[in-house]
Amino acid sequence: MATPHNTANPGDIAETILLPGDPLRAKFIAETYLEDLVQFNSVRNMFGYTGTYKGKRISVMGTGMGMPSMGIYSHELIHVYGVKNLIRIGSCGAIRGDILLGDIIMAQASCTDSNYAHQYQLPGTFSAIADFGLLSTAKEAAERLHAVSHVGNVLSSDLFYTETPEWKRWAELGVLGIEMESYALYCEAARAGVKALGIFTVSDSIVNGESLSAEERQNGFRQMMEIALETAVC
Ligand code: ADE
Repeated sequence: MATPHNTANPGDIAETILLPGDPLRAKFIAETYLEDLVQFNSVRNMFGYTGTYKGKRISVMGTGMGMPSMGIYSHELIHVYGVKNLIRIGSCGAIRGDILLGDIIMAQASCTDSNYAHQYQLPGTFSAIADFGLLSTAKEAAERLHAVSHVGNVLSSDLFYTETPEWKRWAELGVLGIEMESYALYCEAARAGVKALGIFTVSDSIVNGESLSAEERQNGFRQMMEIALETAVC
């Protein structure tokens, strides 16, 4: 059964999936790292592929930018296609001076300025967290691959361009970086009882305005992809 956004048939998508925001990055990961590749989706050019990595069947698919887009794709992957392990890979902006361009942040938890969790009608605030098993496996993989990685809280924001930047207030509470999807992913996973993790390469520093060059982005992103692939096959 297809969805309005995904033409895959049940069984076409592996239980473990890597989720970059950019569909061309999904294509790059599939063509660079996976064997026995089959493309399962191209609706809206949101490319999705299934193949094998080190003998294990895994999938990779773009999600687009922002929580609404992540919410749609992850919800369908979980509820229509039976995906059990969802690993988001993307970029983030650092909001602490000791986190450098190219470092990796693993989102142990995710805060938000969105009202994504409003749908659950809770009498309080939902703390969205990563799966501990995926997180500890990813941290071990990062150490094996000699990547500089930080584990902690991130802010999933609805805003990339803001009139009133409030990042300092989040940084004062120990939040490491800002991205735009992990809160929705963690909510979808929590609600369905499946596992999720967000891994991010620091592409820019909101503290000092620096950002990675195109070449540095490519190298940093490859390290993150390899950490995610190693986590997926564990
Ligand atoms: N992704 C990469 N950099 C970001 C930033 N500065 N804010 C939000 N998402 C990002």
